[in-house]
Amino acid sequence: MMVNKAIFPVAGLGTRFLPATKAQPKEMLPVVDKPLIQYAVEEAYAAGVREMIFVTGRHKRPIEDHFDMTFELEVALEQAGKRELLEVVRSVKPDDMECIYVRQAQALGLGHAVLCAQRLVGNEPFAVLLADDLMVGPQGGQGVLKQMVEQFREWRASILAVQEVPAEHTKRYGIVAGNAVNEQLVDVSRIVEKPDPEVAPSRLGVAGRYILTPGVFHEIANQPRGVGGEIQLTDGIAGLLRREKVFAYRYEGKRYDCGSKEGFLQANVELALAHPQLGPGFRDYLQKLDI
Ligand code: G1P
Repeated sequence: MMVNKAIFPVAGLGTRFLPATKAQPKEMLPVVDKPLIQYAVEEAYAAGVREMIFVTGRHKRPIEDHFDMTFELEVALEQAGKRELLEVVRSVKPDDMECIYVRQAQALGLGHAVLCAQRLVGNEPFAVLLADDLMVGPQGGQGVLKQMVEQFREWRASILAVQEVPAEHTKRYGIVAGNAVNEQLVDVSRIVEKPDPEVAPSRLGVAGRYILTPGVFHEIANQPRGVGGEIQLTDGIAGLLRREKVFAYRYEGKRYDCGSKEGFLQANVELALAHPQLGPGFRDYLQKLDI
């Protein structure tokens, strides 16, 4: 029971980030020195995933270019003797990692995006990573998807990353409810997409990391349109619940909602502070700011 494939839905328009995303995919916005999508791909790679499936749309060419070989750049860096930079460029796509692209012609929702990758995934468990959610594992610990892969190996069932969210934010998330199995795991009995606080079954919100069994494809395909008229992944998971166990996992680490400007700025500040080269100087700079 390996998780070898991951789906990255990257076809969204990124309207929350206009005008920055007018001619550039939101997934290519850099946090410190790396585009958002690279953080998600590195997290998947560290979890053992080797087949990266990007569900793209129009204007997403920069993502394909980013994970392609940049021949002229590599030759120039080699000739200039810039070995370290050459390594940085080459490490974006390790040799044993495969990148596959499939188009989502119409933006019909997250569930629809996942469904677009069905034939590429086939009949095996897979991960879904939403690059907007930048996840940082605990210091010296494992990345969030790696933690989830370990849970998956133990329970052999779908695993959803969750965190407590403020009551007034339930409308932003898929919300789960169920029985606690242990301190970190909940046996999910209900999942609802973006409920109002008054009807939310709990305050456990789904973060953008999933490990799903392939049965979910059938469920997504058989759901009517959900919240916002979209084909929702959450509704597919609600269907899966009727047939299989699904667990919600309280991950260790921190999530930055880089789909919002505030979250994106927080990620930049905190990751800059943690950066081995930039951190100390940036900390000095912030301390001297008269705020
Ligand atoms: C999506 C999912 C939602 C999940 C969220 C996590 O919503 O539909 O269930 O909680 O991602 O970021 P979106 O943020 O795309 O509206």
